[in-house]
Amino acid sequence: MAGGGDHIWFNGKFLESEEANVNLMTHALHYGTGIFEGIRAYASDRGNAIFRLDDHLKRFFKSAKIYRMDIEYDFDEMRQAIIDTVRKNGNRECYIRPLAFYANTVLGIYPRNPVIGVAIMTTKLDLYLGKKDGVRAKVSPWRKIDGSELPSLAKGTGQYANSFLATHDARMDGYDEAILLDTQGYLAEGPGENVFIVRDGKVFTPSLDSSVLGGITRDTVIELLGESNPVVEKRISLSELISADEAFFAGTAAEIAPILEIGGYRLDSAEDNSISLAVRKEYFDAVRGRGNTRDHWLTLV
Ligand SMILES: Cc1ncc(COP(=O)(O)O)c(C=O)c1O
Repeated sequence: MAGGGDHIWFNGKFLESEEANVNLMTHALHYGTGIFEGIRAYASDRGNAIFRLDDHLKRFFKSAKIYRMDIEYDFDEMRQAIIDTVRKNGNRECYIRPLAFYANTVLGIYPRNPVIGVAIMTTKLDLYLGKKDGVRAKVSPWRKIDGSELPSLAKGTGQYANSFLATHDARMDGYDEAILLDTQGYLAEGPGENVFIVRDGKVFTPSLDSSVLGGITRDTVIELLGESNPVVEKRISLSELISADEAFFAGTAAEIAPILEIGGYRLDSAEDNSISLAVRKEYFDAVRGRGNTRDHWLTLV
């Protein structure tokens, strides 16, 4: 993260990345008490543009509220700080990581007088999953933490220990990505992406009560498919998943990644005329401001 001499915005000031450090006693480091966002800026036809910035910021503040964080910068200040950080770091295509965390340096789970640190980082990020044509996935032995255990709709740093274990297991087994089922055995999501499946030309994704993050890419796909092929949000069983015709991951980092295989079960996600490839094309058109674009999705930097 933030390599290559990028500056980091930290509590209102720009610092060189090597100077933006925290104390080892920091609460968030011990207890996973941070929240974050993952946003992308793309070179659009009208200039460098941040995709769905306001929607990401809304989720950032919702996550903060769930974790009872009082962030001293308001929505407009955070918005401007993100734009300034992208500009400061060369105004190019990048991945943007706003982070807020409990910065108290006294050990103990309850931070009596909360101190909240806020930072914004950018980094170059091409293909997050590293594969251009599609990815091989496996169903993880780790279940997605239930929404009654940790709030799925918040992007809490501690929740990503679950994503880390699932990803590690998949990579050790030679796969590109994991797919997590929920505690009841229904499809949940990837470690950092939502999942869609296609069966007989119809597109399905787990509904938001399946312990999944309300992904902004998920929402983008639902809107892009709109009336032409409305997405059905429902519980999806393991057998529906592995016998799907196609499947794809959808997330800011992973973008739209066709799933070629799920643990040995082959899918037709990257065949000519697949719905997955059509969705991917529409998505890239949208982030780059082409075709069926929504102007309000792009914030020109
Ligand atoms: C667990 C999880 N699910 C889904 C997503 C996709 O969300 P978005 O499309 O907003 O990036 C992410 C990435 O933020 C994630 O971490």
